[in-house]
Amino acid sequence: MVIEKYELGEEYWNDRAATRGLQAVGHLDSSNQEFHVDTEAAWKVLQSLTQHYRGEVLDFGAGWGRFTQRLLKTHRVTAVDSSRTMCEMSKNLVQHVAPSCTLPFKNERFDGLFIYAVIQHVPDAIVEALCKDIRRVLRAGSYMIVCDAVGPPHKSRLGHSTRRPLERYQKLFPGLDMAATQITAGVYQPVLLVGELEK
Ligand SMILES: C[S@@+](CC[C@H](N)C(=O)[O-])C[C@H]1O[C@@H](n2cnc3c(N)ncnc32)[C@H](O)[C@@H]1O
Repeated sequence: MVIEKYELGEEYWNDRAATRGLQAVGHLDSSNQEFHVDTEAAWKVLQSLTQHYRGEVLDFGAGWGRFTQRLLKTHRVTAVDSSRTMCEMSKNLVQHVAPSCTLPFKNERFDGLFIYAVIQHVPDAIVEALCKDIRRVLRAGSYMIVCDAVGPPHKSRLGHSTRRPLERYQKLFPGLDMAATQITAGVYQPVLLVGELEK
């Protein structure tokens, strides 16, 4: 069943990468053109915020490195993803991590966090433990850029939670606040949250 398959996480994303290629990280209903236009539109906004990063940035759930390759032009970045197929597509830009809740990094290794369209796909059962481990590897005051489906709780047609309220994100990553509600024009319009991690 789709839902069980989704809950496995890695298998779902491996399949999606194998069947949809680069567009695997985009919304299922986006056209190819819309996907590329939205990527550029989002990056235009996000790039201006990256000036707040100091030190090394963790790109969590980086997919095949769509934003990693852009971030790397100006910053030190470590990118991770739990899908082996996505990591292979990234040609060594993105490192594979287990979809469990333990990242292979020491405490407070990073000074910045970049997350685009990932937390919305993480099941309720593990989202808290996963974000706790992301916080563990970030220093207090780390600058965070998080784009995700923020809003009234909603379940997708795959049966998982794709939307959570702002207050939930602020508990998962204390210090985050709403910065923009529209950074793309297409089907997928993530909300942009930014802030400095409070520990
Ligand atoms: C919609 S894609 C976004 C990829 C990338 N951030 C981008 O915007 O191009 C979601 C990504 O999150 C990854 N992911 C989902 N759960 C994860 C977990 N527990 N740990 C690491 N990556 C995860 C998936 O493998 C997938 O590549």
